[in-house]
Amino acid sequence: MQNYEFQPEVYTYPTARSYKRLDGFSISQQEFTNEINLYLHIPFCRQLCTFCGYLKTINSDMLRKGYISALIKEIEMYKDVIGEKKTISVNIGGGTPSLLQPNELGEIVDELKAINGSILKTAKEVSIEATPESVEYEKFKEFKDLGIDRVSIGIESFADNEIRMAGRHNVGSMSSNAVKILKELHFSNVVCDLMIGIEGQTEKTFSDSLDELIGLDPDTVEVYALGIIPSTVIGKHNPQGFMSNKEKYECYEIARKKFLEKGYFQSCHNRYSKLSEGGYLQEDTVFRGASLIGLGAGARSYAQNLHYRNSFELLDGKAAISRYISKINSGNFAVETGIVLSEDERMRRYAIGNIESLDLLEFTNLFKANFSTAFKDLYEEMLSSGCAREAGNKLKLTAKGLLFRDLIARQLFSSDVEALEGAYRLTA
Ligand SMILES: C[S@@+](CC[C@H](N)C(=O)[O-])C[C@H]1O[C@@H](n2cnc3c(N)ncnc32)[C@H](O)[C@@H]1O
Ligand code: SF4
Repeated sequence: MQNYEFQPEVYTYPTARSYKRLDGFSISQQEFTNEINLYLHIPFCRQLCTFCGYLKTINSDMLRKGYISALIKEIEMYKDVIGEKKTISVNIGGGTPSLLQPNELGEIVDELKAINGSILKTAKEVSIEATPESVEYEKFKEFKDLGIDRVSIGIESFADNEIRMAGRHNVGSMSSNAVKILKELHFSNVVCDLMIGIEGQTEKTFSDSLDELIGLDPDTVEVYALGIIPSTVIGKHNPQGFMSNKEKYECYEIARKKFLEKGYFQSCHNRYSKLSEGGYLQEDTVFRGASLIGLGAGARSYAQNLHYRNSFELLDGKAAISRYISKINSGNFAVETGIVLSEDERMRRYAIGNIESLDLLEFTNLFKANFSTAFKDLYEEMLSSGCAREAGNKLKLTAKGLLFRDLIARQLFSSDVEALEGAYRLTA
């Protein structure tokens, strides 16, 4: 903390970098929680942003058509689980799923409804990701009619030079227009992403972007600090022109102050919302332990004892997509890698997912161990450094703890996962 060390966001544990090749996947052997979340990955984009490590390729009508047909087959392969369980959220992410035509999204929604008629009634959040320039009134009206209620758009910055350097298209007034259209259509949750630390950005230009965004009155804002991923354009070319780690932390504090002043509440370390539910039910419930079924190329699924991932390639999204399509078309699951969770890993996962407000009693009941003894050094340091305080049964992060949340979460990684990640880095 003293050196402002930067830790990219810990949004899952174990991380996909620790997955190993997995043969003989069988869905009938998996246990899922009674309430599940669905994630559908649409890996097509009109632009390839310099910082982005997600699985994607350039959009093409042909490839998209073949992909959607495979995705529908994969949904069908999960019919026993999706048909039986209660779905609490559906998230269509990417990539840029807003490039789907309404009839294509309609086919996907129809398939989900065919295997579980009440899916859109039980789901409290049905979400889609979009680039600002793909938000058009008529298209999104149709998306809304199909049941979408949350739209998450990647604004990243309002400074045109920063947007251009990142290889993105949303220059000019595109981002504000997109927010206006979505508000006019009365989506119940308009979510905007801003980034801290993209090329060319300074504390001043970040602060200006915040002001511009706050003026548009979004329901929820997610603030992501740039992680430099080795396989990306900026990762490959010795990056210059980026703010220091200390400045990134300062930007986090600037954002927090402004959002709290404007009446948003901080629903997690990097999210501010005006909605009492917090703005991102899928992330919150998955963090608390609910299962996730991920469909599509590169999608991750979290069963109770196994985390697994469909065909993925770090450098060649198109190859992973082709492999995914051909596996599904030949009647097989496209699961290629995964990790079996031991009791110890499940305990670490629970602690990381709940790190912002950890129920110590529930922890003991679930794992027959006290957090304060299982992670003695960390527990004591969290308290003595002012990063956490105890409130009743809970260990809660303070404002300082939220600022360093990812560094704290990293301390909970097992040596096995650290070693597997290290081996992955050497081959990546
Ligand atoms: C799938 S994208 C959002 C939707 C859409 N594809 C777009 O770019 O507008 C999800 C979000 O992840 C964040 N993100 C992407 N790459 C990142 C990186 N290397 N470090 C931190 N955040 C990143 C961005 O804020 C981005 O909006
Ligand atoms: S940030 Fe979004 S638009 Fe850019 S390449 Fe990644 S998924 Fe595509």
